[in-house]
Amino acid sequence: MNTRVLTGITTSGTPHLGNYAGAIRPAIQASREAGVDAFFFLADYHALIKTTEDPGRVARSRLEIAATWLAAGLDPERVTFYRQSDIPEIPELCWLLTCVTPKGLMNRAHAYKASVDQNTAKGVDPDDGVSMGLFSYPVLMAADILMFNAHKVPVGRDQIQHLEMARDIAQRFNHLYGGDYFVLPEVVIAEEVATLPGLDGRKMSKSYNNTIPLFEGGASALRSAVMRIVTDSRQPGEPKDAENSHLYTLYRAFASAPASAEFRQALEDGMGWGDAKQALCDLLEHDLAAMRERYVALMAAPERIEDILMAGAEKARKLAVPFMAQLRDAVGLRRLGGGKAPAAAAGGKKAAGRTPRFVSFRDPDGSFRFRLLGADGEELLCSVPYADPKQAGAAMRRLQGEAASLRADGKTYAALLDDTPVAYGTEADDPGARDARLARTREALNVLAGDA
Ligand code: TRP
Repeated sequence: MNTRVLTGITTSGTPHLGNYAGAIRPAIQASREAGVDAFFFLADYHALIKTTEDPGRVARSRLEIAATWLAAGLDPERVTFYRQSDIPEIPELCWLLTCVTPKGLMNRAHAYKASVDQNTAKGVDPDDGVSMGLFSYPVLMAADILMFNAHKVPVGRDQIQHLEMARDIAQRFNHLYGGDYFVLPEVVIAEEVATLPGLDGRKMSKSYNNTIPLFEGGASALRSAVMRIVTDSRQPGEPKDAENSHLYTLYRAFASAPASAEFRQALEDGMGWGDAKQALCDLLEHDLAAMRERYVALMAAPERIEDILMAGAEKARKLAVPFMAQLRDAVGLRRLGGGKAPAAAAGGKKAAGRTPRFVSFRDPDGSFRFRLLGADGEELLCSVPYADPKQAGAAMRRLQGEAASLRADGKTYAALLDDTPVAYGTEADDPGARDARLARTREALNVLAGDA
């Protein structure tokens, strides 16, 4: 199985040059690697947490961010690119996770604690201005990640705690419901990726008002921002301290190693700041001009972006819908009468998610079992009881991976691992019906082995 890499972008602003070099460019590069299935999504539900006062800004930001990623070379055929709010299974999963998340864990979240500290310092109620959205932000983020069983999640340092919480929550759910439902995601912090300095040398950030625009305002806005980069007062002809000038840091983030070395040498040899800024402008234009043209074209055709995102949502839901059916079954949200899982496609497109699947469950006596369900929900196998959920999980995975042997046995049939029956089919009225069901079981296992 490929490594699943997933990351979300909160849609609350307009991407600037720092976002491009620090997040967008490395993510797109990583998505082109072999053996990687990349999931990129617009975290627009997260955007609502901080931007309730300005719906227009969220709407605009969704468009700008989608257009930026596409213009920067994201290939929506290759990666799964979607909006969080187009996947109803995400808030649904969020609730299941909310119900297994200890409140005390959320009390410890940095973002929440910072609000409380500020309120305490101001002498107002500790929870003043804190919405439940802000408080349970990490649970929604866990749902984003666990919905697609992502292995790796590239994020900024400020998100490390959220990833730890996602692992905690996943582990808790797996434990409580006795199955390996969720992969424990790993955080990826790209150490070598430049955090670009802004105009004044501090980290480039909207909150410092020191950003260089990426595409907004076109070439002239880019140029006028570069001309405002703060430098020291050394005159042309005087040697410059390249290493300590953020103009050089910006240059280096876009130039090849030899070009950077040359630029550095020129500064040390006395190149004037005006010329240096002109050189930086030329370099950025060279990199960004074609992308900016694509951006402008995309911004003028929002319905094209809408189509791309809806196609991405459909791709994502092919995974989310059947997985959610399995999770609903796990927590006991099952069809009344008969043990069959709710139709996999509930709420989805008709054919989406109609594949055979294993579901784990817990017997009233506390032991752990699993079932194999056919694409139409027919029960094909039911395992023997296991005292240890790990053993049940291991047997389930082996059945899935190795195409176990099936043997007719009276009115039913058994699935064997190492010659020991680990699961049985439901009883049939006659040998013909039994063999037909056995054949369907064989086929379902083959489908799953192909998927695995
Ligand atoms: N919280 C992330 C941020 O502000 C955005 C985000 C939301 C995210 N859901 C995610 C990132 C899931 C990675 C995975 O940067």
